[in-house]
Amino acid sequence: MDRHTEKIRKRYDRVSKVYDFLEKPMEKSKFSKWRDMAIEKLEGKVLEVGVGTGKNLDYYPKDLNVTGIDFSSKMLGKARKKAKLLNKNITLIQMDAQKMDFDDNTFDSVYTSCVFCSVPDPIKGLKEIRRVCKNGGKIIMMEHVRSEKKVLGTLMDIFNPLAVNSYGANINRRTVENLKKAGFDNIKVTDLWLDIVKLIEIKNEK
Ligand SMILES: C[S@@+](CC[C@H](N)C(=O)[O-])C[C@H]1O[C@@H](n2cnc3c(N)ncnc32)[C@H](O)[C@@H]1O
Repeated sequence: MDRHTEKIRKRYDRVSKVYDFLEKPMEKSKFSKWRDMAIEKLEGKVLEVGVGTGKNLDYYPKDLNVTGIDFSSKMLGKARKKAKLLNKNITLIQMDAQKMDFDDNTFDSVYTSCVFCSVPDPIKGLKEIRRVCKNGGKIIMMEHVRSEKKVLGTLMDIFNPLAVNSYGANINRRTVENLKKAGFDNIKVTDLWLDIVKLIEIKNEK
């Protein structure tokens, strides 16, 4: 793991203590509905990248075969506690999304929620998703990105260093552009909140 990745990983180890508490208001008002909607689209053998404290675990159907990875052992520790109580078909592994241990074409679907704001080298991570997802497989992402509105986008650029240093997440990532740079096309984007929170659906064609 390079030094920058290690720095962000440690930041999430620290944030793990307060993550669920800080996210609670947004979770109740908006995210729970969006998670439901995104998870409904998953099928077959599923990989969740950046599983964090396990906020999606409640929403997975009992029979869905899910593997979740995260590079932060402390975030993953919280997810493991939740998974134990759920009795679902979920395997959790500590792994860097930028260099996954899975073989090519392992998964039918890949899911991320609020992850590609923080993966240190997003294009590397997205290329890995492309590799481990089967040809014709589904990639479903719920991600916040930089607004393309002039004032809002500029404010997000100005405040980005503060967000990265405190939380580990960038608020000005251009994830749809990064997906194209990683080799994806066939990308369907739906705005969930302003032009900032997006549901992204991709058919993996390679
Ligand atoms: C903002 S949290 C989102 C967690 C969860 N997906 C959710 O919806 O609450 C981002 C997560 O991505 C993880 N992450 C960031 N970069 C990663 C990488 N390179 N490999 C694995 N996990 C990573 C972080 O450790 C953190 O748990």
